[in-house]
Amino acid sequence: MKRLTNPPILIAIFAAVAAIALSVGVAWYQVNSGKQSAGLDSTIVAPKVHIGGPFELVDHTGKAVSEKDFSGQFMLAYFGYSFCPDVCPTDLQVIGAAMLDLEERNPDAAKRITPVFFTVDPARDTADVMGEYVANFHNRMVGLTGEQDQVKKVAKAYRVYYKLNAPDEDGDYLVDHSAFVYFMGPDGAYRNMFKHNSDPLEMSRVLEQFVENEG
Ligand code: NI
Repeated sequence: MKRLTNPPILIAIFAAVAAIALSVGVAWYQVNSGKQSAGLDSTIVAPKVHIGGPFELVDHTGKAVSEKDFSGQFMLAYFGYSFCPDVCPTDLQVIGAAMLDLEERNPDAAKRITPVFFTVDPARDTADVMGEYVANFHNRMVGLTGEQDQVKKVAKAYRVYYKLNAPDEDGDYLVDHSAFVYFMGPDGAYRNMFKHNSDPLEMSRVLEQFVENEG
């Protein structure tokens, strides 16, 4: 007991207790914020995030489209490029699998969602290339391309990072890009975000909750 009156020891004990309290608090926050971002809470509140906005692009059939063409529909949006070796195919397969799962379980909810693939590499991703590519992932997936400045503008609106690398001797090049799946509401506003390589069945459940929540 006498040793505990020693000030340095008391400070050390206090610091240890404070550190434990802080780590418990951080862990609690991570668990709870993790639940929220996965959208598994019974009440889903969309965070106020400024992602998305107007765009003028061309779809994979060659038709000029804007954000107004998707008004009234939920949009599951992904940005990448069709020559992407692994990241894009992985995430587009996840989107396709989530859509198929929702179609089986709740076709009415699935019908209200349009999966959309925005290219960040319009020089190679022409409408024809996009049409062939998106058909691999889901029968209703829409591919969007456009002029360089139109693509740049929509990527900026969605806070998408991308960078074209220098071409190799064959003229092939890779494009670095962020890999988030954005879920947008019928009003065109942001609802939720999924990380690269998410679980499709969990994605399907979250999408369903958002759609059902909005009647
Ligand atoms: Ni990619």
